[in-house]
Amino acid sequence: MLLLLLGSPRHFCSIVPVICGAMGRYRNNKLLIVAAVFVLALWIYGYLFDGAKITLNDLPKTRKYDEYWALYYDSSPNDVPFLLQSIHLFNFTSSFSRYSDIPLTLQPFTSLEELINYKLMYTYGQKSAFQKNIKLAPILYLQSHCNTLTGRELYVQQLGRHIAIDSYGACLKNKSLPGNIADDATNPRDIRNFYDFVSKYKFMIVYEDVVCEDYISSKFWKSLTLGVVPIYFGATNIRNYLPNPGSAILVEDFAKPADLAQFIQKVSNSEESYTSFLLHKTVDFYPITNQPLVDYLFRQDIQYVENRKARTIAEFECYVCAQSSAGLQKQSAEREFTCKLPHFPPGNVTHKAMPRVQSFIEQVRAEAAEVEKMIEFIG
Ligand SMILES: *[C@@H]1O[C@H](CO)[C@@H](O)[C@H](O)[C@H]1NC(C)=O
Ligand SMILES: *[C@@H]1O[C@H](CO)[C@@H](O)[C@H](O)[C@H]1NC(C)=O
Ligand SMILES: *[C@@H]1O[C@H](CO)[C@@H](O)[C@H](O)[C@H]1NC(C)=O
Repeated sequence: MLLLLLGSPRHFCSIVPVICGAMGRYRNNKLLIVAAVFVLALWIYGYLFDGAKITLNDLPKTRKYDEYWALYYDSSPNDVPFLLQSIHLFNFTSSFSRYSDIPLTLQPFTSLEELINYKLMYTYGQKSAFQKNIKLAPILYLQSHCNTLTGRELYVQQLGRHIAIDSYGACLKNKSLPGNIADDATNPRDIRNFYDFVSKYKFMIVYEDVVCEDYISSKFWKSLTLGVVPIYFGATNIRNYLPNPGSAILVEDFAKPADLAQFIQKVSNSEESYTSFLLHKTVDFYPITNQPLVDYLFRQDIQYVENRKARTIAEFECYVCAQSSAGLQKQSAEREFTCKLPHFPPGNVTHKAMPRVQSFIEQVRAEAAEVEKMIEFIG
């Protein structure tokens, strides 16, 4: 089947036999939920949902047996509880999961060049000088949300007792952003100034709000591309995504925050040790040993695309059109949202987050049950 990828929200993706039109997509917030309707003549064939905005009320109450539901989902699994148990309602998905039809995990990368170039990077010597001269801590922490299912702030607070951490976001804020960046770390005024500010740090804490396979926030990729060593907690299979085995410091490898702090301090004090975390930036030949990552980054079609998100949505729409016009029988697998609840780092310093997790689990169950009850399949 011939597919034309035009990359705009309004496009025809396949010529015969299904005409796929994206309808009413960016018109208003409500309509956006039902992101697109693919139409065969005047017959409604299925729905493409934008998972970031979906609520239970947006789901159609009746569903034909041959109606396809597709889900585009690029936010935190914690935002839409019912999805954790109801992913099977959808026939096609584009999400962070590697098992989804069009996976988005690596979407924030635009090219291999971006990952390995050192244009935006400061040297070890320069970073050490920033620590001394402009009083930067070795570690940067930038989060606006505190009360997460992973007890993020509880862990970082403990870590901060053993090593200095500059915290600019609303969660545990103890420093103000420099004047050339708007005082909203998640929406900086000038992105170049912001990257420059971040890259002055040796380390950056990237601690997810929920633990799911393949769910890795874009902060992680950003820290790698800026040459700032990530201190990471989250995706259980994060090792599969590292450029080199030693590209990140993993919180799960340390028995308690004090041990982690001690290790970071040691790395911070040694140029040789610190640089060994940045081989993707500092080695000229074969800077990345993770071959699947290299293969992905070498894909022509991810390079030089201006609006990756619009592009991925378009690609997904076309995929759904092609599959549904071929009459494919399919439903999404439960393993697509493999989330661990509860899941905390070693050291038991996050136990106060347990009640949050329990009430979230209850919410997931209740919403999933409501959805099952709500949707009536008709012939
Ligand atoms: C906050 O500020 C103090 C003093 O500079 C520092 O020791 C601590 O590590 C900081 N960070 C956190 C997250 O508490
Ligand atoms: C689409 O998914 C629904 C819900 O899981 C399922 O009942 C239906 O059979 C699937 N449709 C097709 C055509 O595979
Ligand atoms: C964690 O610490 C709390 C408070 O000290 C305690 O009540 C709880 O039993 C501990 N949990 C584990 C798994 O050790």
